[in-house]
Parts: sequence; C-alpha cells; structure tokens
Amino acid sequence: MKLIVAGATGFVGTELIRQALSHPGVTSVLALARRPTRVPQKTAPGADPSKLKSVVCDNFEDYPESVKKELSGADACVWLIAVTPSKVLTMPWEQVRTICYDYTVNGLETIAQLPRSSADRPLRFIYTSGAKTERDPSKKPWVVGGYSLMRGEAESFVLNYAKESKGAVEAAVARPGLIDAPGKMSMPMNVLATIGRSIIGLPKVDVSEVAATLIDQAINGIEKDTLLNDDLIRIGQKALTEQQKRQ
Ligand SMILES: NC(=O)c1ccc[n+]([C@@H]2O[C@H](COP(=O)([O-])OP(=O)(O)OC[C@H]3O[C@@H](n4cnc5c(N)ncnc54)[C@H](OP(=O)(O)O)[C@@H]3O)[C@@H](O)[C@H]2O)c1
Repeated sequence: MKLIVAGATGFVGTELIRQALSHPGVTSVLALARRPTRVPQKTAPGADPSKLKSVVCDNFEDYPESVKKELSGADACVWLIAVTPSKVLTMPWEQVRTICYDYTVNGLETIAQLPRSSADRPLRFIYTSGAKTERDPSKKPWVVGGYSLMRGEAESFVLNYAKESKGAVEAAVARPGLIDAPGKMSMPMNVLATIGRSIIGLPKVDVSEVAATLIDQAINGIEKDTLLNDDLIRIGQKALTEQQKRQ
C-alpha cells in the first residue's frame, strides 16, 4: 500500500516513517510536509529507505498540481499536521485554526479526489487529534477549551465527510493522551508532566504504540471511528509484537 503521512517531519511522523519503512504492508511512504522529510536516524532491521518519497508542499490551502500528482495512487493517509497545545500561544489564534482545521479540511477534500491504486478501494483517512478534544460545541473543557472545541470540529468534519462519501472514504480519529518516548523529557520535567497529567486526567501512550496503531489501521482497516488512548496502547502493542516477530 502507498501511504501518505501528512506532517511527516514531526515527532509522531518521524516514528511512523521509521516503522513504515520496515513494514511489509507498506510499499511506498509519501511524506507530505512543508519541508523535506529525511530517513529517520534509527531505522528498524529490514528497513527499506527507498520506500520514502519526500513531498514538499508550499500551499496547504490550494495544493499545487505537482504535489497532487505525487500524492496520486495512495490508498491511505495519516494526518498529523497540527499545532500542538504547547505551541498554541506562539502564534495568532487564526493561524492556529488555519493549520489545525482548514488544512485538514482541504487536505481530506484534495486527497479524496485523487486517483487511487484501485478505484474499488476506499481511501482510509486517519486523523490524529487528542484525548481532551470535545466535539459537542455546547461543552467547553476548562483546559484549552477553545482549542479542544476547534480540534473537535475538525474530527466531526472528517467523520461526517466519510459518512457522506458513499463508501469512497473510511475515516478514523485517533485520540492519544500525552505521547511519550524514551528520553523525551528530563527527570524533573517528567515529574511535572505526571503531576499536570493527573490534575487534568490526561493519559499517556508511547510514540511507538501510536505509530504502530496508525500504520495498522491504515493497512488492515479501521476498527472503530474513534480510537481512544487505551485503544492506541492495545492495538499498538499487538502490532509492535508482530513487528518484532518479523525481525
Ligand atoms: N505530541 C504529543 O504529546 C501529542 C499528544 C496528543 C495528540 N497529539 C497530536 O498528534 C499529532 C502529531 O503531533 P506531533 O507531536 O507529531 O506534532 P509536531 O511534532 O509538532 O508535528 C506537527 C507536524 O505538523 C507540521 N506543521 C506545523 N505547522 C505547519 C504549517 N504551518 N504548515 C505545514 N505543516 C505544519 C509540522 O511541520 P514542521 O516539522 O515543519 O514544523 C510537523 O510535520 C497532532 O495532531 C497533535 O495534536 C500530539
């Protein structure tokens, strides 16, 4: 399968590409980002770096024809482009919304219209959101409420788009809590993060589990439309065990 990874240069994207390069179910990884995507440093045994194709896009609101051509033939897309909560205050709110919401809407609408490897197969679109996202506009969470509602709006758009596509698109929303990785945080930061997480009830998941789940759902099909943190751990651990057996 040809897999598009949108937001390939980020934290989750890098791990996802590392795993996808050694996954027999992925024939080609189209790494979509605003800057070139490189082969991750620590590739897994059996990785084939030639599967990676970096696709640089300079306009996520109106894709250049050359980018559309490069993305053609893909059967699945994992969407990771967003501004994470820790960076929200570094830019104007309208810009945050454009990147998180408008880019997602336009990305899905654009990719859904591209030719696929087989016209009979639906496009699988997996949108990565967050554990504290809220879809109900009448409920505003007390922590980063406006941001949570805006991400919820994007989730609803993706799921409704698939529902109304008459089978042309299958979609899922992944809702990880804090995504961790060995050595990501210093010990004091880890303690602070644990206290912060317990106050707001935010669960934790390892980046390898998130990436393994996203690849699994893209290749094997979507288990359910909303994958909660526990689902990401469960599906991810099973997929990682299978990966280890192959190596
Ligand atoms: N990290 C976590 O703990 C966590 C927890 C829960 C949910 N999530 C969600 O998981 C997804 C991926 O998160 P992540 O940690 O991988 O985020 P990240 O490291 O910040 O990566 C985000 C990706 O989006 C791209 N991007 C940001 N602004 C852009 C812009 N203006 N134009 C084009 N591309 C842009 C980044 O490109 P550049 O590399 O060029 O900046 C990068 O490829 C997000 O939806 C996030 O909300 C993350």
